[in-house]
Amino acid sequence: MKFIDLFSGLGGFHVGLKNNGHECVFSCEIDKDLRDLYESNHGVRPHDDIRTARESEIPAHDILCAGFPCQPFSLAGKKKGATCPESGRLIDHVVRIAKHHKPKFILLENVPNVLTIENGQFWNYVRSSFELIGYKMDYRIISPVDLGIPQNRKRVFILGTRSDVKNESFKWPSASDEGIIKVSLNEILDNSLHHKKLEIKKSDTLLLWQELLNGLNIETLSGVSIVAPEFGANYPENFVNLSLKDMRQYKGAYGQSLERCRTWSELLSHIPSYAQKNKKISPWILKSVRFSRNLYQENKGLCEKWSKKLNKINNSWQILEWRGDHTKHVIGNHVVQFRASGIRVLRADVAPSLIAMTPTQIPIIPSESRYVSKYEAAKLQHLHTLKKLPEKNNAAFKALGNAVNAKIIELIGRNLTSINSHASTINSV
Ligand SMILES: C[S@@+](CC[C@H](N)C(=O)[O-])C[C@H]1O[C@@H](n2cnc3c(N)ncnc32)[C@H](O)[C@@H]1O
Repeated sequence: MKFIDLFSGLGGFHVGLKNNGHECVFSCEIDKDLRDLYESNHGVRPHDDIRTARESEIPAHDILCAGFPCQPFSLAGKKKGATCPESGRLIDHVVRIAKHHKPKFILLENVPNVLTIENGQFWNYVRSSFELIGYKMDYRIISPVDLGIPQNRKRVFILGTRSDVKNESFKWPSASDEGIIKVSLNEILDNSLHHKKLEIKKSDTLLLWQELLNGLNIETLSGVSIVAPEFGANYPENFVNLSLKDMRQYKGAYGQSLERCRTWSELLSHIPSYAQKNKKISPWILKSVRFSRNLYQENKGLCEKWSKKLNKINNSWQILEWRGDHTKHVIGNHVVQFRASGIRVLRADVAPSLIAMTPTQIPIIPSESRYVSKYEAAKLQHLHTLKKLPEKNNAAFKALGNAVNAKIIELIGRNLTSINSHASTINSV
């Protein structure tokens, strides 16, 4: 089949569908560097802005693919939905092109939040726009880890089938499909590829946290974070109704005395940032604050000695978000991310989602004191066959974080091929 690749980025749709023998006849991408890269990797020069792509200049095709920009819909973005002037309504251009060409299939990909934003109104708008021009719409939320690839990355895949095309035999890919092999993160990692070393300050901080874990001998760390500023603190969980005088009897972060604080702003500078807003501990961290205060009570000497060594310049390095092995607390056996909320320790079998907006969340392999390389990240997106990736690390991670996982597209494409050949047989009979 012939396909077009709208908002083509690195070409996740292209790689996935080409692996099934389909042919790309048009693509568009507004970013000049990505257009150049697409041309060198795939031999097709993308048009620039979808808004200026004239229907008559786009060749006829069987599959229209569009990974429309997700920033307005993702939970991490500003959630402006279709009202976002820059890219919220780019979907209208996809509908315009589909209305003119009437391809057999429309394949869209986005963050799952696209289904629920504005109480589902945006999704109703997208679905009814395609239904009005003669398509049956269906969708499935799929993560690469469901199909044997070690990356957690839930995305919604939306399939529109032209009303006259019989698609009863179409099946969304699943783990039990033929040829799906489970790959572990270890098999993806390749120390010989060029990678960035972890900064000394970060590796020292990880070593220090490990020292604490070894000393504490905690039986199980499940779903809680260790919040170091709570070592020695006893300020109330909610102090919105307390006076400055009442507060002076308590201890702030790391047991700092509040006794001499003359103003609220002076006092709040001794209270951790997660408790400053509305003068109460934010609910998302409350359970971990209680856990950490108990931990301190049971291990006062150790916690005090340890917290003197901790680098307190960076707020988020003072919180260890444990999402890893519940019983063996060895950071080196995990994958780590330095996130704005804290240092997150994750199981080493599956990589966290590669995301485009913050290159600071590039996964770290602590046992090798290094970041995951862009080549390994490309394998996590099934884009390892690309001849070229963006040269700069941040640009490469941004593009890879924006890309659709090519393995999922390959598997969807395989199932579309089987409906298409079935339909052609019926037509020729
Ligand atoms: C979510 S990414 C899609 C990535 C792609 N599916 C892949 O596999 O790499 C959205 C892409 O749309 C591009 N884009 C944004 N606005 C555009 C526009 N008006 N016309 C064409 N491309 C646009 C962005 O530069 C970005 O690369």
